[in-house]
Amino acid sequence: MEVLPLKDLQTQVSLAKRRGYVFQSSEVYGGLTSCWDYGPLGSQFKLNVKLAWWKAMTRRNDVVGLDAAILMHPKVWEASGHVEGFTDPLVDCKNCKNRFREDQAMVNGKVVCPKCGSTDVTEARNFNLMFKTHMGPLESEGSVVYLRPETAQGIFVNFENVATSMRKKVPFGIAQIGKSFRNEITPGNFVFRTREFEQMEMQFFVKPGTDEEWFDKWKQIRWDFYGTLGLNSEKLRYSEHGPNELAHYAKAAFDVEYEFPFGWQELEGVHNRSDFDLSQHQKFSGKKLEYFDDAAKEKYLPYVIETAVGCDRLALALLCDAYREEVTEKDGKKDTRVVLGLHPRLAPIKAAILPLSKKPDLQEVSHKLVDSLRDDFEVEYDEAQSIGKRYRRQDEIGTPLCVTVDFDTLEDKQVTIRQRDSMEQERISIDQVKSYVADKILVLRKMF
Ligand code: GAP
Repeated sequence: MEVLPLKDLQTQVSLAKRRGYVFQSSEVYGGLTSCWDYGPLGSQFKLNVKLAWWKAMTRRNDVVGLDAAILMHPKVWEASGHVEGFTDPLVDCKNCKNRFREDQAMVNGKVVCPKCGSTDVTEARNFNLMFKTHMGPLESEGSVVYLRPETAQGIFVNFENVATSMRKKVPFGIAQIGKSFRNEITPGNFVFRTREFEQMEMQFFVKPGTDEEWFDKWKQIRWDFYGTLGLNSEKLRYSEHGPNELAHYAKAAFDVEYEFPFGWQELEGVHNRSDFDLSQHQKFSGKKLEYFDDAAKEKYLPYVIETAVGCDRLALALLCDAYREEVTEKDGKKDTRVVLGLHPRLAPIKAAILPLSKKPDLQEVSHKLVDSLRDDFEVEYDEAQSIGKRYRRQDEIGTPLCVTVDFDTLEDKQVTIRQRDSMEQERISIDQVKSYVADKILVLRKMF
């Protein structure tokens, strides 16, 4: 048997659409560029990804959760530096009218249009990536608010609320999952870079001087997290930001990169943000945000170690990583089985219940089985098409187990369980299905 990995992004995009993972937004109107809707399987899968991250973060004594509003006081974005500096250099090609980012089109010190190759381009203009809207009925300068471009600021401005209400002592962290918006000039590569996306961010507040040690700890913790999700470690690497690449707030920064079908790209950023954010909010709000350290009997502004990953980007990495084609040849004929080898905890459906035929007796037993499993696992009932085609569909959407109810079941009260990866089948008593699925799936729950 020959096993082939994902050959290009388009293959994944087609599977995602065909099988209900991801659809183009507003497709009936021709679609909206760079916006995507997660379908029935995609939304469950994404929820599982978020849950994995959330549990990894908040099942620690030193990290608590938060869910801050998307709309924030406009001064937040002045303090954070986004109003002034969250810009990309925008250039227009005079030849083909293509609009692109200057920094992504530099070839040997010259700006070259990525579409037509012309060097006849306009001067770069700074384009702010924040989406603006208005609060209330009047569209005046005074009513401008922004859709947040990162979730992090909601954490910084709540630092004191959380520390006080939860009696948290530094070092501790705040984790948050939520939507962010950036008016990207060049979105693309499916859900990799979009204008509306979800972030999973954690800010860990530490005593100045201990920041480097904590930075190294979090780098390791985040690396280990990807192992628990089953991502191929050969497609993961850390890459350090050079002095010229550091964001305005960062003292040090490493990206976790993943090798997507379109090359190595950032998945997550681990940043040492120093006391930049808290000192800026202290300055702009006029409110003291210093922390009094009981043990050391001293006041200071904590430093922040940030870990920031895009949920959509991680979902895409996991889908690409899980995809494989198994090609076998029999009597000169090639057969390809497409498998999404997702970690069982991430798979949107844990078990499919498949009656061999549409005979009412088999349907009844199958429905009863579905009902007995539904409270504990995501299960799917499917009676359409041949059993072979149904197995293949489940393989393609990543379902770890298929349970077949056949004519013998009516006599011997047993069903056939088929494993997605090995295709091995075994016959077990219908009463044992729940504990069987639990063994295969829930044992892994301990991991995240
Ligand atoms: N608070 C720090 C921060 O937002 P970032 O590197 O700009 O840092 C963090 O973003 C993560 O958010 C990225 O590593 C990426 O996974 C995700 N992300 C950023 N922009 C994105 C976009 N336009 N589409 C999808 N994901 C994005």
